Amino acid sequence: MSDKIIQNTVAFVKDTLAGAEGGHDWYHIERVWNNCRYIQKKEGSGHFLTIELAALLHDISDAKFNGGDDEMGSRMASDFLIKQSLDEVEVEHIKRIIQHVSYKGGFSQDQISSIEFQIVQDADRLDAIGAIGIARAFNYGGFKNRPIHNPTLPLQEYQDSKAYHKSDAPTINHFYEKLLKLKGLMNTSTGKAMAEERHEYMLQFLDQFYGEWDPGK
Ligand code: ADP
Ligand code: NI
Repeated sequence: MSDKIIQNTVAFVKDTLAGAEGGHDWYHIERVWNNCRYIQKKEGSGHFLTIELAALLHDISDAKFNGGDDEMGSRMASDFLIKQSLDEVEVEHIKRIIQHVSYKGGFSQDQISSIEFQIVQDADRLDAIGAIGIARAFNYGGFKNRPIHNPTLPLQEYQDSKAYHKSDAPTINHFYEKLLKLKGLMNTSTGKAMAEERHEYMLQFLDQFYGEWDPGK
């Protein structure tokens, strides 16, 4: 039963995300799924089917790409899972995980405390940092036609999540508004240890980047 649901979910997600921006495509989902497997094994807790389904469906419809509807993703996921005859309580839990997993500029205080949520959120956050996080950030910036960096602009800080999402700051700004903050927001000890290494790698990248920007400095 659970193998079949996973198979159907993978097919649904691949189909729905065909043509998605490179940082939010099927391979992002697959990496988050891989991270979940690794973290769950190390932590030794969490109901794995719930974690897998939430990981697979967490970006099924992203407000950044669907005209701003924050609820569409969790609704699509729960409609799909109900059709797969998944237990209603489990569908509700997965729906809540999907509603809460997103960073939203760090402004959302609203969290849920289940270990399944914590693992999926860590897995998603890990894919936003390190080498892959750097690649995804510049891909997203390119997709939005944003400058890589503008040394004449001060770093932008935001008052709320609306301003964060509306910003069209250069991609280097995204390191300070989000990527470098994620290490301190990890939930599990496995996630924290993984984030540590990826964080160091981003710091090295930024050092190298500014060094190359003006070698005379
Ligand atoms: P969440 O769903 O947790 O809010 P996002 O979908 O906003 O996360 O971010 C996922 C990835 O999209 C980020 O890790 C980054 O690679 C990219 N991204 C989002 N916003 C920006 C931005 N303003 N500049 C560059 N990359 C961004
Ligand atoms: Ni994601």
